[in-house]
Amino acid sequence: MISRREFVFGASATIGAVAAVRPLLRWGPDESPAIPGKHGMIVRSLRFLDLEMPVEYANSFITPVEHFFVRNHMHEPSTLDPGVWRLSIDGEVEKPLTLTLAELTKLEQHTVTNTLECAGNGRAFAVPHVPGVQWEKGAVGTARFSGPRLRYLLERAGMRPTSKHVMFRGLDEVPGKVPPFIRSIPIEKATDGDTLVALRINGAALTKHHGFPARALVPGWIGAASCKWLTEIKVLNKEFEGNFMSPGYRMPNHPVKPGEAVKVEDTHPATALNVKSLIASPRERMSVRSRVIHVQGAAWAGEADIAKVEVSTDSGATWQPTQLGKERSRYAWRLWSYYWKAPKPGSYTIMSRATDTQGRMQPDSVQWNPSGYLINVVDRVQIHVQS
Ligand code: MTE
Repeated sequence: MISRREFVFGASATIGAVAAVRPLLRWGPDESPAIPGKHGMIVRSLRFLDLEMPVEYANSFITPVEHFFVRNHMHEPSTLDPGVWRLSIDGEVEKPLTLTLAELTKLEQHTVTNTLECAGNGRAFAVPHVPGVQWEKGAVGTARFSGPRLRYLLERAGMRPTSKHVMFRGLDEVPGKVPPFIRSIPIEKATDGDTLVALRINGAALTKHHGFPARALVPGWIGAASCKWLTEIKVLNKEFEGNFMSPGYRMPNHPVKPGEAVKVEDTHPATALNVKSLIASPRERMSVRSRVIHVQGAAWAGEADIAKVEVSTDSGATWQPTQLGKERSRYAWRLWSYYWKAPKPGSYTIMSRATDTQGRMQPDSVQWNPSGYLINVVDRVQIHVQS
């Protein structure tokens, strides 16, 4: 558990100092400045902390917190006293509740191993360019989240027939005129037995970057659904109307041509994640001595399961099945591995492609959309096999 002093002063002071001396927005993993609790991350933004996981860490079923990506739309809360922090549950309910952290901790705790992915992961591959954080492959990670079921809290507050959506508000510090990060999820997902008010990540208290002391955990859905630094849960009779529901986080109803504008009435909210795979090793532009190459990575599919992951070493002409890892959990990625013998020295492109239990398969090319959401093109790395 981090101390209150660390929470209040530690991370933000260090980040502020680094930003002052080096105002760039992107570093490679080896040059990343010291960010307490994080290691070897790719810095996408320091103004609002956005950290990407280097793709080689997608070789572990559970992502250590120090490698777990961070996505913040605004400033993390600079002061938050867990002793005075409260979570309120109100709106379309019979008995509004206010709970302390100690009270939440005493409730039955449920654990969900979930692959959390930012809707914008892969946006950097959109052509033409789309605005937003230029995530490449690593705005994703898998962790064990624990806490009381949201359903239990909603039942205690007493849902009404008019309860249709559940809104989350966090304690982010909103800069200037930026609208607050408030979103809602449908009541069916909110009352699913795996949707949590998570207090813990990988067996320890949530860290500041991941929403201490409590966050929503909406498994299988885009990361934006899982509101951090949760302070208010409000039951609504309709979807929340606000910037981060519309125009934010919406997908076109139909495929669009790259660069085409889409009217908001032709869109719907992004919810569950796409089927997707990543090659964790070998790494891009690696030069290898051995002709036998261990290709490995991870694949996930939101609310669906992974059916298979295939690898191609001939530009997609043929695909070979990979071995799926034994560790599995609903909503969590599957590790996969494949041994390939390069026929001769030279340069090769290795590709990975996942298919899920809903029959969805990763596409060969980027499915462009104006915000670069849910991009799940087959993964590719180029390597050189030495003579
Ligand atoms: N919750 C709050 N309060 N503020 C935010 O900016 N970002 C969301 C979500 N929850 C966000 C938030 C987005 S876009 C993502 S992808 C996930 O948090 C990232 O969670 P992580 O930073 O723990 O990886």
